[in-house]
Amino acid sequence: MIQKLDAIGGQALRDIAAATQLDVLENVRISVLGKKGALSEVLKGLGTVLPEERPKMGAAANEWKRQIEEALTIQKDKLESAALNIQLAQERIDISLPARLPHRGALHPVTQTTRKLLQIFSRLGFDPMTGPEIETEFLNFEAVNIPKDHPARDMQDTFFMGPGVVLRTHTSAVQMRALRSKKWPVRIVCPGAVYRSDHDATHSPMFHQIEGLWVDKNVKMSDLKGTLEFFAQEMFGSESRIRLRPSYFPFVEPGAEVDVSCFLCKSKPVDTCKVCKGTGWLEILGAGMVHPRLFEMAGYDPGEVSGFAFGMGVERIAMLLHHIPDLRRMFDGDSRFLTQF
Ligand code: PHE
Repeated sequence: MIQKLDAIGGQALRDIAAATQLDVLENVRISVLGKKGALSEVLKGLGTVLPEERPKMGAAANEWKRQIEEALTIQKDKLESAALNIQLAQERIDISLPARLPHRGALHPVTQTTRKLLQIFSRLGFDPMTGPEIETEFLNFEAVNIPKDHPARDMQDTFFMGPGVVLRTHTSAVQMRALRSKKWPVRIVCPGAVYRSDHDATHSPMFHQIEGLWVDKNVKMSDLKGTLEFFAQEMFGSESRIRLRPSYFPFVEPGAEVDVSCFLCKSKPVDTCKVCKGTGWLEILGAGMVHPRLFEMAGYDPGEVSGFAFGMGVERIAMLLHHIPDLRRMFDGDSRFLTQF
């Protein structure tokens, strides 16, 4: 039995020394010391040994067990530290490599353009004012002289939130709020989101406008022209000119659509100008003299005060300035696009 023990022990030590993998080492341990391991099997036969021999056998077995366990621990440490060294070498951080810069956001082009517009008009004394995006049908329509049967109220254009409540279709909805909440003079600009059921490369169901309103004694069309010319030159460059084309908006009389000379080809029409498409002019806003009916509705005397109003799309101006071909990019939320401006 002693010989058997010696054979098992000797073989185990050689196997341990030869093991180069942790799982191989574990297999050696199980095959010798495990419940059904070689050493355990021998010890199970201890009962058949003469009683006076047993202590000697037991001691020998224990000594092998001790030696094997010690060899296992040493080999295990060796293999583990070797594995750690390999891992450390592989995971070494090369501090000379260029770093990946943290991603920086930027202000959305709509925000940038809105701020610039507010700043330009503030220099002419226009105070910012806001109104709710969920608006009464009355303030969005009736109050700006758009009667019940007007096509602008059509379901196809307007998002109705409930009886008498709409998502405002234009910032002109703020006009009556401004007139009613203040005594004239009123000189405000109202930025904000507006909603229309429309969706293609140049229309989005949600977009932004800025409304301007100036009401005072003796405000004239020439004040409107001067204001818009100042705005155009600040926004599009000092050589910019504007032109007014007669147009109809129910809340102004007379009304006009306002074009600014192309800031890219400077109105010398170039067929290929990608901004004005060779027309030399860019349509940028609607404007006009406040309709007397609005004054009456607000409790003002149209004989005493007059005023002008204008409204423009913020995305449209941002698209012109930055040559953005598709409005939808503004709302995709793709930071590669948004950080360009
Ligand atoms: N509310 C008009 C629109 O949305 C713009 C406008 C505002 C026109 C003020 C004239 C005066 O198209």
